[in-house]
Amino acid sequence: MSIIMVAAVGRNGVIGKGGDLPWDIPSDRKHFKALTVGRTVIMGRRTYEELGKPLPQRRNLVVTSRAIDGVETFPSLDAALAAAEGPVALIGGNAIYAEGMAHADTIHITRVHGEPEGDTVFPTIDTARFRLAETAPGERGPRDEYGFDFETYVRLPKSA
Ligand SMILES: NC(=O)c1ccc[n+]([C@@H]2O[C@H](COP(=O)([O-])OP(=O)(O)OC[C@H]3O[C@@H](n4cnc5c(N)ncnc54)[C@H](OP(=O)(O)O)[C@@H]3O)[C@@H](O)[C@H]2O)c1
Repeated sequence: MSIIMVAAVGRNGVIGKGGDLPWDIPSDRKHFKALTVGRTVIMGRRTYEELGKPLPQRRNLVVTSRAIDGVETFPSLDAALAAAEGPVALIGGNAIYAEGMAHADTIHITRVHGEPEGDTVFPTIDTARFRLAETAPGERGPRDEYGFDFETYVRLPKSA
């Protein structure tokens, strides 16, 4: 099963502020959509609350201890992964990314060219498990608050 992780991360590691994104980058929203459409997306409860409704063209699974109307909920990431069929995208927040490091085969980071204030950060990428395979410059559009690059990390083969 292909499991990718997708995150936009400031140069200071920040991914969120007050339950929302700390920037407005429409071009990255398009990139996120292209990476995740057709996949089962798994997210934490606060990330789902920020979205407000399930993402279209994707099966949405929310990890939470609560019951939430209108979306499938699971008490743990493992339970959500067990329920997923086909390709998966782990889309945050912090704990889902941290726990997801043990499961993802590829990590797609949009490296935002800014250091905005925030209260949520991306966990450290374990360089014993992942290597940076590619960095590609992003094309900043007129409405994008910051420039950005796309970094692709791939899981290293297990050492013998
Ligand atoms: N820049 C990006 O790419 C990106 C992506 C996603 C989110 N964000 C931002 O990040 C912030 C939200 O992230 P967050 O880390 O604060 O919250 P989050 O992970 O979205 O949600 C946290 C909640 O999810 C549940 N949860 C998460 N991991 C769990 C686990 N392993 N086991 C059991 N339950 C788990 C718990 O829900 P209950 O309390 O209901 O039990 C927990 O309180 C927002 O500001 C959002 O905009 C940014």
